[in-house]
Amino acid sequence: MKKHPYQAVIFDLDGVITDTARYHFIAWQRLACSQGVTFDEAFNETLKGIDRATSLDLILAQSNKTYSAAEKAALSDAKNDEYVQLVAQMSADDLLPGAVQALDAVRAAGLKIGLASVSKNAFAVLARLGITDKFDYVVDAALITRGKPDPEIFLKAAAALGVAPADCLGVEDAVAGVRAIKDAGMFAVGIGAPDVLTQADDVIAGLDAFDLNRYMA
Ligand code: BG6
Ligand code: MG
Repeated sequence: MKKHPYQAVIFDLDGVITDTARYHFIAWQRLACSQGVTFDEAFNETLKGIDRATSLDLILAQSNKTYSAAEKAALSDAKNDEYVQLVAQMSADDLLPGAVQALDAVRAAGLKIGLASVSKNAFAVLARLGITDKFDYVVDAALITRGKPDPEIFLKAAAALGVAPADCLGVEDAVAGVRAIKDAGMFAVGIGAPDVLTQADDVIAGLDAFDLNRYMA
C-alpha cells in the first residue's frame, strides 16, 4: 500500500463508530409495515449511508400508493421520533470495539479528526456515546445539500479542518460512503467486507483493526 503523510482522518458514524443500523432498521421497518411494504435486513443494507428523505422515497417506491409531500413529511417525522427514542437509550456501551482507541491513536499521531455523517441525529448520538470532544469538526448534516455518494460532506469536513482532500483518510462502512470519499479525492478505508466495499483502498473488519501506521509515510 502506498504510504502518505496524511493530516486528517474523517470518520463516518453509523456502522463505523457505533452500530445504529439496528435502530434505523427497527424504525424503518415499523414505517414500512404501516404502509404494507416488506422491509427486511437486505433492504436495510441498501439504505446504509443514505439520507432520511432518500431512504423514505426508496421505501415508499415499494408501495402502490402515492404520497403527498405532507404525508411524506409526517411519515419521516414518525420514523425519526422512534429513532430518537431508541438513541436516547444509548451510552458509551454502544461504542463499537476499537472506536475510542482508533480516535485516540489518530489524535496521538497529531492528525485532525472529522466526522462526516449524513445523520441529523449525529450530534445527539455523539453526546450519548460521550465522545463529542474527540472531534475537531463535526459536519452538520442539516447544512449538506447532497447526500452520499456525493462527496460534498467529506469535502466540507476537510475544508473545515483546513486539510487538502488528498491529505485525508476517510473511514466508511457504506458503499455510498466509500464512493463519496473516493470522489472527494481521499484515501478510503472501508469497514466491512472487501467483496462489498470494492471501491475502497483498504478494507478492515472494524476499527479494532484500524492501524494508522499502515497508511502513514
Ligand atoms: C446514515 C445512516 O448515517 O444516516 C442511514 O447510515 C440514515 O441509515 C442516515 O438513514 C440519516 O440519518 P437521520 O438520523 O438523519 O435520519
Ligand atoms: Mg455508515
